[in-house]
Amino acid sequence: MENILAPSILAADVMRLGEQIGEVSDAGAKYLHIDVMDGVFVPSLSYGVCVVESIRKSCDMVLDVHLMIVDPHRYIEAFAKAGADIITVHLEACRDVKETIDLIHSFGCRAGLSVKPGTPVESVSEYLDQIELLLIMSVEPGFGGQKFFPEAIGRLQEAKTLIDQRGLSVDLEVDGGITADNVRDVLRAGANVIVAGSAVFRHPGSDASGLMEILRSEQKQG
Ligand code: DX5
Ligand code: ZN
Repeated sequence: MENILAPSILAADVMRLGEQIGEVSDAGAKYLHIDVMDGVFVPSLSYGVCVVESIRKSCDMVLDVHLMIVDPHRYIEAFAKAGADIITVHLEACRDVKETIDLIHSFGCRAGLSVKPGTPVESVSEYLDQIELLLIMSVEPGFGGQKFFPEAIGRLQEAKTLIDQRGLSVDLEVDGGITADNVRDVLRAGANVIVAGSAVFRHPGSDASGLMEILRSEQKQG
Protein backbone atom coordinates (compact mmCIF):
# COMPACT_ATOMS: atom_id res chain seq x y z
CA MET A 1 0.00 0.00 0.00
CA GLU A 2 1.23 3.49 -0.75
CA ASN A 3 2.10 5.67 2.23
CA ILE A 4 -0.09 8.76 2.06
CA LEU A 5 -0.04 11.97 4.08
CA ALA A 6 -3.45 13.45 4.95
CA PRO A 7 -2.98 16.89 6.51
CA SER A 8 -5.88 17.82 8.79
CA ILE A 9 -7.07 21.35 8.13
CA LEU A 10 -8.39 21.59 11.68
CA ALA A 11 -4.96 22.96 12.58
CA ALA A 12 -4.73 25.31 9.58
CA ASP A 13 -5.12 29.07 9.70
CA VAL A 14 -8.57 29.71 8.21
CA MET A 15 -7.43 33.07 6.85
CA ARG A 16 -4.67 31.33 4.87
CA LEU A 17 -6.47 28.08 4.12
CA GLY A 18 -6.17 28.12 0.33
CA GLU A 19 -2.49 28.96 0.48
CA GLN A 20 -1.78 26.27 3.09
CA ILE A 21 -3.65 23.62 1.08
CA GLY A 22 -1.48 24.55 -1.90
CA GLU A 23 1.65 24.14 0.21
CA VAL A 24 0.78 20.66 1.51
CA SER A 25 -0.22 19.55 -1.95
CA ASP A 26 3.10 20.79 -3.36
CA ALA A 27 4.89 18.91 -0.57
CA GLY A 28 3.33 15.66 -1.85
CA ALA A 29 0.34 15.13 0.43
CA LYS A 30 -2.38 13.33 -1.54
CA TYR A 31 -5.33 13.36 0.83
CA LEU A 32 -6.78 16.40 2.58
CA HIS A 33 -8.37 15.44 5.90
CA ILE A 34 -11.48 17.42 6.82
CA ASP A 35 -12.83 16.95 10.35
CA VAL A 36 -16.55 17.50 10.77
CA MET A 37 -17.72 17.74 14.40
CA ASP A 38 -21.28 18.19 15.64
CA GLY A 39 -20.88 19.10 19.33
CA VAL A 40 -22.76 15.91 20.24
CA PHE A 41 -20.65 12.91 19.18
CA VAL A 42 -17.66 15.01 20.22
CA PRO A 43 -17.74 18.18 22.36
CA SER A 44 -16.45 20.52 19.64
CA LEU A 45 -18.08 22.08 16.64
CA SER A 46 -16.07 22.52 13.48
CA TYR A 47 -17.52 23.01 10.02
CA GLY A 48 -19.90 21.46 7.58
CA VAL A 49 -20.87 20.83 4.00
CA CYS A 50 -20.17 24.26 2.51
CA VAL A 51 -16.52 24.15 3.57
CA VAL A 52 -16.06 20.89 1.64
CA GLU A 53 -17.88 22.40 -1.34
CA SER A 54 -15.69 25.46 -1.32
CA ILE A 55 -12.42 23.51 -1.01
CA ARG A 56 -13.51 21.13 -3.81
CA LYS A 57 -13.77 24.04 -6.27
CA SER A 58 -10.07 24.75 -6.19
CA CYS A 59 -8.41 21.59 -4.88
CA ASP A 60 -7.74 18.34 -6.70
CA MET A 61 -6.49 16.39 -3.69
CA VAL A 62 -8.49 13.43 -2.42
CA LEU A 63 -10.95 14.94 0.07
CA ASP A 64 -10.99 12.67 3.11
CA VAL A 65 -14.00 13.71 5.18
CA HIS A 66 -14.00 12.44 8.78
CA LEU A 67 -17.53 12.69 10.18
CA MET A 68 -17.56 12.91 13.97
CA ILE A 69 -21.33 13.26 14.08
CA VAL A 70 -24.22 11.16 15.36
CA ASP A 71 -26.42 9.38 12.82
CA PRO A 72 -24.07 10.27 9.96
CA HIS A 73 -26.44 8.75 7.36
CA ARG A 74 -28.36 12.06 7.52
CA TYR A 75 -25.50 13.93 5.87
CA ILE A 76 -23.88 11.43 3.47
CA GLU A 77 -25.69 12.72 0.40
CA ALA A 78 -24.81 16.34 1.18
CA PHE A 79 -21.09 15.64 1.71
CA ALA A 80 -20.94 13.41 -1.35
CA LYS A 81 -22.54 16.09 -3.51
CA ALA A 82 -20.22 18.70 -2.02
CA GLY A 83 -17.29 16.74 -3.45
CA ALA A 84 -16.02 14.36 -0.75
CA ASP A 85 -14.01 11.44 -2.16
CA ILE A 86 -13.81 9.42 1.06
CA ILE A 87 -16.46 9.63 3.75
CA THR A 88 -15.52 8.11 7.09
CA VAL A 89 -18.11 7.48 9.76
CA HIS A 90 -17.72 6.27 13.33
CA LEU A 91 -18.88 2.79 14.16
CA GLU A 92 -20.09 4.16 17.51
CA ALA A 93 -22.21 6.85 15.83
CA CYS A 94 -24.14 4.77 13.27
CA ARG A 95 -27.61 3.37 13.78
CA ASP A 96 -26.97 0.83 11.04
CA VAL A 97 -23.35 0.56 9.94
CA LYS A 98 -23.97 -1.51 6.82
CA GLU A 99 -26.72 0.78 5.58
CA THR A 100 -24.48 3.80 6.11
CA ILE A 101 -21.60 2.17 4.18
CA ASP A 102 -23.99 1.26 1.36
CA LEU A 103 -25.28 4.82 1.27
CA ILE A 104 -21.74 6.20 0.96
CA HIS A 105 -21.07 3.82 -1.94
CA SER A 106 -24.37 4.70 -3.60
CA PHE A 107 -23.05 8.23 -4.12
CA GLY A 108 -19.81 6.96 -5.64
CA CYS A 109 -17.60 7.72 -2.62
CA ARG A 110 -15.10 5.50 -0.85
CA ALA A 111 -16.35 4.39 2.56
CA GLY A 112 -14.29 4.67 5.72
CA LEU A 113 -15.09 3.30 9.15
CA SER A 114 -13.51 4.62 12.33
CA VAL A 115 -13.22 3.46 15.93
CA LYS A 116 -12.45 5.52 19.01
CA PRO A 117 -9.64 4.37 21.31
CA GLY A 118 -12.03 2.53 23.66
CA THR A 119 -13.81 0.50 20.98
CA PRO A 120 -12.39 -2.98 20.32
CA VAL A 121 -10.72 -3.19 16.91
CA GLU A 122 -12.36 -6.52 16.21
CA SER A 123 -15.76 -4.82 16.19
CA VAL A 124 -15.01 -3.63 12.63
CA SER A 125 -14.32 -7.20 11.50
CA GLU A 126 -17.67 -7.87 9.89
CA TYR A 127 -17.47 -4.70 7.79
CA LEU A 128 -13.88 -4.96 6.60
CA ASP A 129 -14.72 -6.42 3.21
CA GLN A 130 -17.22 -3.59 2.60
CA ILE A 131 -15.01 -0.58 3.23
CA GLU A 132 -12.06 1.10 1.51
CA LEU A 133 -10.56 2.71 4.63
CA LEU A 134 -10.28 1.83 8.30
CA LEU A 135 -9.45 4.70 10.65
CA ILE A 136 -7.94 3.89 14.02
CA MET A 137 -8.10 6.94 16.29
CA SER A 138 -4.92 7.49 18.26
CA VAL A 139 -6.51 10.16 20.48
CA GLU A 140 -10.04 10.62 21.79
CA PRO A 141 -11.74 12.37 18.84
CA GLY A 142 -12.79 15.99 19.25
CA PHE A 143 -9.69 18.14 19.41
CA GLY A 144 -6.47 18.68 17.53
CA GLY A 145 -3.12 18.95 19.28
CA GLN A 146 -3.54 16.05 21.72
CA LYS A 147 -0.90 13.58 22.75
CA PHE A 148 -0.67 10.27 20.86
CA PHE A 149 -2.05 7.22 22.75
CA PRO A 150 0.72 4.57 22.61
CA GLU A 151 -1.95 1.82 22.73
CA ALA A 152 -2.72 2.77 19.12
CA ILE A 153 0.37 0.86 17.97
CA GLY A 154 -1.02 -2.50 19.09
CA ARG A 155 -4.44 -1.58 17.75
CA LEU A 156 -2.98 -0.78 14.32
CA GLN A 157 -1.11 -4.09 14.29
CA GLU A 158 -4.33 -5.88 15.15
CA ALA A 159 -6.22 -4.05 12.40
CA LYS A 160 -3.48 -4.76 9.85
CA THR A 161 -3.59 -8.46 10.72
CA LEU A 162 -7.37 -8.55 10.25
CA ILE A 163 -7.03 -6.85 6.85
CA ASP A 164 -4.16 -9.06 5.65
CA GLN A 165 -5.70 -12.31 6.86
CA ARG A 166 -8.53 -11.70 4.41
CA GLY A 167 -6.32 -10.53 1.59
CA LEU A 168 -8.06 -7.14 1.48
CA SER A 169 -6.54 -3.89 0.32
CA VAL A 170 -8.10 -1.45 2.76
CA ASP A 171 -6.32 1.82 3.57
CA LEU A 172 -5.32 1.79 7.25
CA GLU A 173 -5.46 5.35 8.53
CA VAL A 174 -4.30 6.71 11.88
CA ASP A 175 -5.42 10.06 13.30
CA GLY A 176 -4.33 12.02 16.34
CA GLY A 177 -1.06 13.16 17.84
CA ILE A 178 1.13 12.11 14.92
CA THR A 179 4.53 13.81 14.79
CA ALA A 180 7.87 13.28 13.07
CA ASP A 181 8.90 11.37 16.21
CA ASN A 182 6.19 8.70 16.16
CA VAL A 183 5.23 8.47 12.48
CA ARG A 184 7.73 5.66 11.77
CA ASP A 185 6.18 3.59 14.57
CA VAL A 186 2.66 3.87 13.15
CA LEU A 187 3.88 3.10 9.62
CA ARG A 188 5.71 0.02 10.88
CA ALA A 189 2.58 -1.03 12.78
CA GLY A 190 0.74 -1.11 9.44
CA ALA A 191 -0.79 2.33 8.92
CA ASN A 192 -0.43 3.74 5.42
CA VAL A 193 -2.60 6.88 5.60
CA ILE A 194 -1.22 9.33 8.11
CA VAL A 195 -3.39 12.18 9.36
CA ALA A 196 -1.46 15.08 10.85
CA GLY A 197 -2.83 18.45 11.90
CA SER A 198 -0.56 20.20 14.36
CA ALA A 199 2.59 18.55 13.01
CA VAL A 200 1.88 19.98 9.56
CA PHE A 201 0.37 23.37 10.26
CA ARG A 202 1.40 24.37 13.77
CA HIS A 203 4.81 23.09 14.79
CA PRO A 204 7.60 25.46 13.83
CA GLY A 205 10.20 23.63 11.78
CA SER A 206 7.99 20.57 11.33
CA ASP A 207 5.95 20.62 8.16
CA ALA A 208 4.40 18.46 5.46
CA SER A 209 7.74 18.07 3.64
CA GLY A 210 9.47 16.59 6.69
CA LEU A 211 6.71 14.05 7.22
CA MET A 212 6.59 13.24 3.49
CA GLU A 213 10.29 12.49 3.53
CA ILE A 214 9.79 9.94 6.31
CA LEU A 215 6.79 8.41 4.51
CA ARG A 216 8.86 8.00 1.34
CA SER A 217 11.89 6.54 3.08
CA GLU A 218 9.75 4.05 5.05
CA GLN A 219 8.07 3.04 1.76
CA LYS A 220 11.45 2.21 0.24
CA GLN A 221 12.53 0.18 3.23
CA GLY A 222 9.20 -1.64 3.40
C1 DX5 B 1 -9.31 14.84 16.16
C2 DX5 B 1 -9.32 14.93 14.65
C3 DX5 B 1 -7.98 14.97 14.05
C4 DX5 B 1 -7.13 16.17 14.41
C5 DX5 B 1 -5.70 15.69 14.42
O1 DX5 B 1 -10.56 14.52 16.62
O2 DX5 B 1 -9.99 13.81 14.11
O3 DX5 B 1 -8.02 14.79 12.65
O4 DX5 B 1 -7.26 17.23 13.53
O5 DX5 B 1 -4.91 16.73 14.88
P1 DX5 B 1 -3.46 16.51 15.46
O6 DX5 B 1 -2.61 15.93 14.36
O7 DX5 B 1 -3.06 17.86 15.88
O8 DX5 B 1 -3.58 15.54 16.62
ZN1 ZN C 1 -9.79 13.41 11.89
